[in-house]
Amino acid sequence: MNSRIITNGPLDINKQAVEASFSKAAEHYDQFAQLQRDIGLQLFKQLSADKPANILDLGCGTGYFSEKLADFYPHSSLTCFDLSSAMLEQVKQKNLVQVTCQQGDIDKQPFPKNFFDLIFSNLVVQWSADLGCCLQQLKESLTTGGKLHISTLLDGSLHELTQAWKSVDSHPHTNSFLSLAVIEELLAPLAFQSLKITTETRTLEYDNVIEVMRALKGIGANHVHGHQRLKLQGRQLINQLEQGYSPFVNDNGLLNLTYQVCYIEAVK
Ligand SMILES: C[S@@+](CC[C@H](N)C(=O)[O-])C[C@H]1O[C@@H](n2cnc3c(N)ncnc32)[C@H](O)[C@@H]1O
Repeated sequence: MNSRIITNGPLDINKQAVEASFSKAAEHYDQFAQLQRDIGLQLFKQLSADKPANILDLGCGTGYFSEKLADFYPHSSLTCFDLSSAMLEQVKQKNLVQVTCQQGDIDKQPFPKNFFDLIFSNLVVQWSADLGCCLQQLKESLTTGGKLHISTLLDGSLHELTQAWKSVDSHPHTNSFLSLAVIEELLAPLAFQSLKITTETRTLEYDNVIEVMRALKGIGANHVHGHQRLKLQGRQLINQLEQGYSPFVNDNGLLNLTYQVCYIEAVK
């Protein structure tokens, strides 16, 4: 499948290009982010009603869940962290109290050790160049007994689009995602006090390939590592892609797009 091999070490990700894609999408992100909402709400249900002093929303995006965290934990200090300056601008416009916005990279975390009592991260760590290292840094920044709640994507996500593009050319047009087995292997040496991993499959439906591509672009998830952007040009190309997608047209005549979701719940 598409899984990366852990022994290959860090991926070469152009963070500037990732930042640019997400920043371009920041203003209209919320209109396209229904799946991100649904997965984030599922992740939010894991949270307990304790009183964390310091919370991190890692890869906060426009701050939809930062706002929910601030409401749910009104006495906590919240750090909203994201690579994209434009995403953080959206958070700032929410005028949340006890919130600090910080721009940075999940692969070079600037946080103090033993600081956060709760880390929440919805659909972000699939953008890490080195997930093992990213998780290690997150664990270090947690207090003893601190809680980590992460959702991410697994291999098999977007497989219809990946297959459809293969009928057009041999370049990758989608990013690859780690397998569950690899994520489990990366988490094992971190020896969390408790660790629970759950998975689910979510399938979205679209009218046509243009809508599929528009959905990815709408949330800024259209940067493909090391390769050209997801871009459609010309009727002929669209027809070819539609053709490649034809095995994934469902009984309602709509195009399926699958997401394999992984939820990680850990206590340091
Ligand atoms: C799919 S959005 C999720 C946003 C938010 N958590 C939500 O649930 O709406 C992914 C977010 O991760 C951020 N991101 C991507 N790569 C990152 C990195 N290396 N470091 C920090 N943030 C990153 C993007 O800018 C974007 O805001």
